[in-house]
Amino acid sequence: MIAPYFSEALIQALHESKRVAALTGAGVSQESGLRTFRDPQTGLWAQHKPEDLASPEAFCRDPKLVWDWYAWRREALKGVRPNGGHYALAELERRLPAFTLITQNVDGLHRMAGSQNVLELHGNIQRVRCSICGTFAEDWQEPENEVPRCEVCGGFLRPHVVWFGETLPRAELETAVEAARSSELFFSIGTSGIVQPAASLAYAARNRGAKLVEINPEPTPLTPKVDFFLQGKSGELLPALVRAVWAA
Ligand code: APR
Repeated sequence: MIAPYFSEALIQALHESKRVAALTGAGVSQESGLRTFRDPQTGLWAQHKPEDLASPEAFCRDPKLVWDWYAWRREALKGVRPNGGHYALAELERRLPAFTLITQNVDGLHRMAGSQNVLELHGNIQRVRCSICGTFAEDWQEPENEVPRCEVCGGFLRPHVVWFGETLPRAELETAVEAARSSELFFSIGTSGIVQPAASLAYAARNRGAKLVEINPEPTPLTPKVDFFLQGKSGELLPALVRAVWAA
């Protein structure tokens, strides 16, 4: 791969910025072999209706269907490793005075890559809790033809992810908004930027004077607003950017 070109202004901004935040989406895990949601051919929502699988109504209607779909996604995660993009973000955290990583991803790959200061806005698919009393289950049996039940109240267990129509975890969202607003440089990486409230974070940062960097092979609704649009794959561009800034 030819070394991508990064403007002097971007390299300087990364050298000088004290407070940096980044929002990631499914695209950052694409090079690890995970499907995104809205890719017209391979996206999960190209083959499944989100309202049938990722909403409280869907779980009420058919808990087994929803449970099995998340079990299938957990299975698909087995053996999946972080890619260069995840590792480069972990390195940004080590090199920058204040770096906050905000992710919409439920795959846990950022932590697996060594990132510590991670806000999982949409939860984590490896975690399961009771749909009634909220108790987390560290491990559970997979009964043949039914959804596992909570040992405390007998309610159905459900994935610890945020479904459409549900509110985000308050503490994580408030910390994410604060990190965006106080950032001098804000990255939007591998996200189509259409799902709220995560999609508003870049605008919250920009409204407080932050410079915006977007990394995506395709333009998104945010692209006209950014200062630096790095068109390409995050697994290639992020490690190259870290090398370009801290090479010498
Ligand atoms: N590197 C960077 N970006 C990529 C790559 C890559 N290798 N491959 C694809 N992309 C981009 C796509 O061009 C697209 O803009 O990643 C984006 C993925 O967008 P979506 O599939 O919409 O995923 P995301 O933005 O994370 O979705 C947000 O929607 O379905 C819900 O809860 C789910 O968290 C998810 C939320």
